[in-house]
Amino acid sequence: MKKKDTVTLIDNSTGKELELPILRPTEGIATIDVRALYRELGYFTYDPGFLSTASCRSAITYLDGANGILRYRGYPIEQLAEQSTFLEVCYLLYYGDLPDSKQLTTFKNDICHHTMLHEALKQFFIGFRRDAHPMGIMVGVVGALSSFFHDHEDVYDPKQRQKAAHRLIAKMPTIAAWSYRYAHGLPFMYPRNDLDYAGNFLHMMFALPTEEYTPPPLFVKALDLIMILHADHEQNASTSTVRLTGSSEANPFAAVSAGIASLWGPAHGGANEAVITMLLDIVNSDNDVQYYIDRAKDKNDRFRLMGFGHRIYKSYDPRAIIIRKTCHDILEQLEPGNRYQELFDTAMEIETIALQDDYFKSRNLYPNVDYYSGIILLAMGIPLNMFTVIFALSRTIGWISHWNEMMQDPESRIGRPRQLYSGEKPRNYVKLDSR
Ligand code: ACO
Repeated sequence: MKKKDTVTLIDNSTGKELELPILRPTEGIATIDVRALYRELGYFTYDPGFLSTASCRSAITYLDGANGILRYRGYPIEQLAEQSTFLEVCYLLYYGDLPDSKQLTTFKNDICHHTMLHEALKQFFIGFRRDAHPMGIMVGVVGALSSFFHDHEDVYDPKQRQKAAHRLIAKMPTIAAWSYRYAHGLPFMYPRNDLDYAGNFLHMMFALPTEEYTPPPLFVKALDLIMILHADHEQNASTSTVRLTGSSEANPFAAVSAGIASLWGPAHGGANEAVITMLLDIVNSDNDVQYYIDRAKDKNDRFRLMGFGHRIYKSYDPRAIIIRKTCHDILEQLEPGNRYQELFDTAMEIETIALQDDYFKSRNLYPNVDYYSGIILLAMGIPLNMFTVIFALSRTIGWISHWNEMMQDPESRIGRPRQLYSGEKPRNYVKLDSR
């Protein structure tokens, strides 16, 4: 007899049974379709943090945490990191396939011609305090973009969606760099269309109007690689935030602004900043590495090894392997005895000790993408509070590709989770003088 591709749920309290279909993915973990559950049995499912919940179908990124596999549109991250460029990866993620040379030229041209910001947007930067965290500026300015364009309001029109996507990819480096320039009292540098994506960002970050500036090729290449590795990571917290925000048909600039807010937290994109803060603390302290490892294991101490652990990866994060090697290669090309080398050596020492420690081994805690990326950014001269901004800049393509996919999905509807109510039962209002 042919086996049925279903699971049967038996409600022992009523004796009712419900057969639920198993949805088979092209690769990876199968999913039980529970949509009939509430209608048929009157139950919700309970899954805080979405540990066992697939919130959507997606054809963009494949992630196998047990085996350390990451693929964009089927292409292994290692091959893309080695052979592709960030803009090519942007095309791949958004459109689904690698571009031919004509498509790539047209795409690059489209991005190049959207890099400038409306002059009035400068006033938004100037309105922030000088010591504002650039992520706060990003949240505000990206949200404000929606008030400058009115040809993106039909979120069901693919052409309008594409235009919004191109604008976001193109303008994000300008917004990111200007948030830094403003905080440092430096003049805003306009984008240069003759430079490639990463080079143009470094130009807007570091050039002065008084001098010629050529972005260092070593750093352009490294930044392009970091952006490729951060471009997408399926349904993480910020991408899910973009999807949830966009599910109400909110405009894409508002949805991406929400994604930036979600990314900011130290448990997500803020970790790259937190890793360097931790490494600097260790390097500048009289305590040895083992002291910090012990603190990370102590349940009464909130200290965690930043850059370690991941909800999905239960083996080495494949992006961390690539970044560690790049970090090593870059440091070799800098002046001997540079201060980044000390941070790298300390990071390696922590990794070696942690990976032999039962606490980390038994919980499958390995370095994640953020563990080594910060050292490279620091070596480029990028200040700590810009690290998560660079993550946001890189992840924009992932966010907007997921939003675009969701807007075409006939199964998608407004995201509206349910809850397990744990509050008071009905009670009567008590007048103030009787309380
Ligand atoms: N240091 C010490 N212990 C850790 C760490 C860590 N970095 N990460 C997890 N653990 C422990 C937890 O205390 C928990 O132990 P327990 O089972 O004894 O209670 C166990 O490992 C499982 O951890 P959870 O927090 O339940 O795992 P979750 O999937 O919810 O969290 C997260 C994943 C947030 C990434 C976590 O590992 C963490 O906080 N890491 C440090 C911050 C970080 O690097 N974030 C970047 C993530 S990658 C990214 O967003 C790009």
